[in-house]
Amino acid sequence: MYEWLNALPKAELHLHLEGTLEPELLFALAERNQVKLPWADVETLRKAYAFNNLQEFLDLYYAGADVLRTEQDFYDLTWAYLQKCKAQNVIHVEPFFDPQTHTDRGIPFEVVLRGIQGALKDGEKQLGIRHGLILSFLRHLSEEEAFRTLDQAMPFRDAFVAVGLDSSEVGHPPSKFQRVFDRARAEGLLTVAHAGEEGPPEYIWEALDLLKVERIDHGVRAIEDERLMQRIIDEQIPLTVCPLSNTKLCVFDHMREHNILQMLERGVKVTVNSDDPAYFGGYVTENFQALYEHLGMTKEQAQRLAQNSLDARLV
Ligand code: ADE
Ligand code: ZN
Repeated sequence: MYEWLNALPKAELHLHLEGTLEPELLFALAERNQVKLPWADVETLRKAYAFNNLQEFLDLYYAGADVLRTEQDFYDLTWAYLQKCKAQNVIHVEPFFDPQTHTDRGIPFEVVLRGIQGALKDGEKQLGIRHGLILSFLRHLSEEEAFRTLDQAMPFRDAFVAVGLDSSEVGHPPSKFQRVFDRARAEGLLTVAHAGEEGPPEYIWEALDLLKVERIDHGVRAIEDERLMQRIIDEQIPLTVCPLSNTKLCVFDHMREHNILQMLERGVKVTVNSDDPAYFGGYVTENFQALYEHLGMTKEQAQRLAQNSLDARLV
């Protein structure tokens, strides 16, 4: 089944580039940039990938990103991901990057962007993978800081298709960023947002009504609100679901309890994505494989999920 799933043409719509930083590359970049790491070796770092919730993961994810310093580092990170895509027949990607994770450490915005963009362009030319880049705001930071990041991005407006919202969800509702998203939309950018991962269904309503998102990232808690479910089905609002992430971060206790196929059968436009594959144990095909192994996903369901990902592209 793995080979069959791997060969399905698919798009990846929920992927944090910083979350593709494999321990081996992390150590190589630390050496290249002479960054001292708190972990003795790759194995020790991998052992630290045991999380009870989103915040425990984010703490490690932001610590790991500290090895990314130069344009070449961001190029190498993105290029390694695109090669994975090629191997898994991912033909279209709409990755996120978190500029604030880097600018707050003194890395210029354009250094980050040029590295990522260079690899995405080479990926299109050399690997035939199409892309649309999404600038994501860190929701644990202030509205003012998000505005500043949007200002930094505007000279490079054409590099992006959309803005997104990620990081610590609970306590940072979409409404906090309504004005930032209004400004982004006025600039012609589309919008997406993480909502209903750990946060309540109300956050999904806010993402739809206030941020006017095209897709909901995660959205698995929508199932707790029947009126919301009806809206998502009626309007065919895509959910970018990340099964391995959800089990690694204890959103579901076990893959057997994941609701993605239940949603699919109710007519929700759900898609399968890897979120932060270096941290959660696999890329897109491994996420599909987990649904086959633990939820009995059929080939017909896998085809529908893959088709949904292609239909839910922004570009
Ligand atoms: N940043 C990287 N991965 C994330 C996730 N799953 N939720 C929120 N923010 C993130
Ligand atoms: Zn995410």
